Amino acid sequence: MDLYPVGILGTGKYVPDRILSNHDLEKMVDTNDEWIVTRTGIRERRISSDEQASSDLALEAAKGALDSAGITADQLDLIVVATITPDMAFPSTACILQEKLGARKAAAFDLSAACSGFIYGLANASNFIATGMYQYALVVGAECLSKITDYTDRNTCVLFGDGAGAVVIGRVPEGRGFKSFELGADGSGGDLLKVCGGGSRNPSSAASLESKLHFIQMAGADVFKFAVRIMGAAAEEVLRKAKWEKADIDLLVPHQANKRIIQSAMERLELPPEKCMVNLDRYGNVSAASIPLALAEAVEEGRLKEGDKLILVGFGGGLTWGASALVW
Ligand code: UT7
Repeated sequence: MDLYPVGILGTGKYVPDRILSNHDLEKMVDTNDEWIVTRTGIRERRISSDEQASSDLALEAAKGALDSAGITADQLDLIVVATITPDMAFPSTACILQEKLGARKAAAFDLSAACSGFIYGLANASNFIATGMYQYALVVGAECLSKITDYTDRNTCVLFGDGAGAVVIGRVPEGRGFKSFELGADGSGGDLLKVCGGGSRNPSSAASLESKLHFIQMAGADVFKFAVRIMGAAAEEVLRKAKWEKADIDLLVPHQANKRIIQSAMERLELPPEKCMVNLDRYGNVSAASIPLALAEAVEEGRLKEGDKLILVGFGGGLTWGASALVW
């Protein structure tokens, strides 16, 4: 079967107004700006209001992506929302977003692959378009991590923030668009990064709340080691599949978890700083929203031109990882 070439037609982003700085966190837990900046690279993060849920953030990012793609919501065939902070268990955040957008003919589902969710979503949605089943898909990463973060736990609360990024994908001219994907999972590392309350294993109860099972738990150092290994490996795998060399890369858009993890990926790919998009200093780690938010900002900053070779790469809870090589 012939496959259509598929690529990104438009990008959008949204972050809440409220800023939580490292100095604000100094007043909440035993930490300091110097520690956070040197160990992570993060200076501040955005926090959603009590009224805002992930679909609200997703809506604004989606509108931006539709505008920049030059299509309207009723042209969408599919909406995929990658999130670990859905508005509720069900209906899916994608269905809530479909209603808010008025994307009447779109199929809609959420996808759970933690910080790798956006790449999983892209790979999924692009296949629907490559086969000709659909014409336009909206892929969103949207998170309100502040709502599942324990602000008495300094190991996690300095890292996470809220935001959303979105892309519209569709057919592109021959030679452009996605050249390769790499997706992976290692469930044996599931305990390293999790929210284990509120599901069918530990339903919400007074006891689950008391034990703080509704908050993110993380074995930071173990996740760090995994991240350093897998970011480079996944990026090299998509390069190999696309038949590109490291020197071909024009821009790397990595998951924004920790500056030191990003630096190790840049070293492995032999990339100078100007070939890597970094915005975690302003937003922290926004999980599934991280890569599309960074991509939307790279576009805003004029860092991408037609024909550029781009690598997206991320890792996250599951454990999971994902990467893509694409021509802009
Ligand atoms: O999207 C995926 C999500 N997760 C990640 O990507 C996280 C990956 N891991 C990391 O980014 C890093 O492991 C952290 C930033 C979480 C921690 O950095 P680290 O260099 O691995 O520090 P550590 O966990 O080895 O802790 C070093 C010390 C410890 O003190 P002791 O035991 O040596 O006395 C911690 O208690 O730093 C202490 N510490 C802090 N100190 C000040 C941990 N958190 C803080 C903090 N402020 N916020």
